[in-house]
Amino acid sequence: MSEVREWSREDAATLLRVPGPADDKYSRGVVGLRTGSSAYPGAAVLGVEAAWRAGAGFVRYIGEGRAADAVIARRPETVVSPHAAGARVGAWVIGSGTEAGKRTADEERELRGILDGAVPVVVDAGALDLARGSRAPLLLTPHGREFARLQTQIGSAPGDDRARAAAEAAARLSAVVLLKGAQTLIAHPDGSVIRVDAGTGWLATAGTGDVLGGVLGTLLAANPDASIAEVAATGAWLHGHAGRIAAGIGADGGTHGYPIVALDVAQALPRA
Ligand code: APR
Ligand code: MG
Repeated sequence: MSEVREWSREDAATLLRVPGPADDKYSRGVVGLRTGSSAYPGAAVLGVEAAWRAGAGFVRYIGEGRAADAVIARRPETVVSPHAAGARVGAWVIGSGTEAGKRTADEERELRGILDGAVPVVVDAGALDLARGSRAPLLLTPHGREFARLQTQIGSAPGDDRARAAAEAAARLSAVVLLKGAQTLIAHPDGSVIRVDAGTGWLATAGTGDVLGGVLGTLLAANPDASIAEVAATGAWLHGHAGRIAAGIGADGGTHGYPIVALDVAQALPRA
């Protein structure tokens, strides 16, 4: 396996675009989220807020019921519709705040349609089990336990070397794998791995993963020609840095920082 590359602030800066005179809301990136559920409507809100705050020009939310109502109440800018069919987006985010065992047949068909489309898909939490064999360019975003389940699914042995394990999973799934944790690793199917060490332990709080999903969707939609792994590393860097800013690290929080909630991270994205 090739060396693990560290992703720096300067590296991230190369993929964070400033809109110019020729830009409009579409060229800045259209992101679609099909996330959240009636059990976890908050995941939908967090992902949508993060997508906007990461700089999307247009955010679509696909869903119904409590989650859709919560999204529109929090962010009226969002275009909400019940079904993904016909929605033109530059990148999708699916699975955050959903459980694999609780999908209806209709929901599964819709997710498979997204996963077999042409644009990149961020696949999180409850949608990870559907990733295998899909046609769209994929960015999988498991945390440690979700990754262990994925390894079981693909017949990969658990091991202590996270970089090696992530690279193996990426190769077997033909997808970029972003393995979350105190240090985030992004593995490409070709075996190369990027490490992002930008966050803070204060990010270990419910919902920050849903925020990351929105960030990644926006950056993929805004950078259609860039490497998915490098865009993913940039998203992880931005999310980690936003966590540090939200926790006041280096400012009024001193070196230790203070507790934050996931929405604070989304709101700190513009400053990050
Ligand atoms: N240091 C730095 N960053 C951390 C740390 C840490 N100690 N712990 C977690 N993080 C970061 C991760 O890198 C990731 O970006 O916080 C984020 C947490 O994401 P998730 O693990 O996906 O957590 P989240 O989804 O927000 O919350 C719990 O996970 O088990 C599922 O379905 C369950 O919805 C629930 C969710
Ligand atoms: Mg999660």
